[in-house]
Amino acid sequence: DFIYSMRGIGEIQDRLKNKLGISKVIVVPGNVEEDEFVLSDLGKATAKLIEKLATSNTKVGITGGTTMAAVAKGITQHTKKQNINIVPARGGLGKQVETQANTIAAEIASRLNGSYELLHASDTLSNQTMEILLQDREIERVIKTIKSVDLLVFGIGRADTMARRRELQKDIVEKLAESNAVSEAFGYYFNQEGNIVHETKTIGIDLEDFQRVPNTIGVAGGRNKAEAILAITSLKKSMILVTDEAAATMILEKF
Ligand code: BG6
Repeated sequence: DFIYSMRGIGEIQDRLKNKLGISKVIVVPGNVEEDEFVLSDLGKATAKLIEKLATSNTKVGITGGTTMAAVAKGITQHTKKQNINIVPARGGLGKQVETQANTIAAEIASRLNGSYELLHASDTLSNQTMEILLQDREIERVIKTIKSVDLLVFGIGRADTMARRRELQKDIVEKLAESNAVSEAFGYYFNQEGNIVHETKTIGIDLEDFQRVPNTIGVAGGRNKAEAILAITSLKKSMILVTDEAAATMILEKF
């Protein structure tokens, strides 16, 4: 049974990679929405990739979220690599400290025996406040690091869920619905074709930077994130996707 199901996952993985046309797809068995151990497996699978791709002196950009928190916990191997620097890719969000990009950066750094940067900027700033912040030397330094990361590991969210979590204003929520936003990643909202329909004004990585980063890993699972994942994979063909069986089969069957 075990061998049979492992073969099944391998096949799902291949089919999904073909369908999305991206460089690598990893699928863990199960559904993160139904079983917390699946989230932890998703984290471990992503952690393995980070351990492989982050060589000495690598700068790694990361985002926040519950999935990325599981990725941090998934790093358990002792690494011989040195000088790995972890940096939050975008400004912070929400009130929960465990899932803030800053917290996750610190956690990953400690597990990789590396260093980390903190980005002290909320992602709900007004334009004016942001312009002033950008003049700050420390912020300027961190942004420079963000713009030159070698590896980016990011969570993918549903547009509606992320709009709610960010407590976006009513007119923006309406705009998202009218423009059929399905997906959110690093502050951008996308429709199913992967076109930007809205952007959270914040400090950090932008879409051009995203395109330039040599190694990119998107991580998300659960049936209800299928469409969100699909939209993101149309942005960059060289990206790696780590997902679960539930999202993978949903993408294969429904889209
Ligand atoms: C956020 C990221 O922290 O996590 C978002 O900034 C992402 O870009 C989201 O969409 C995903 O969250 P979760 O909790 O579903 O992993």
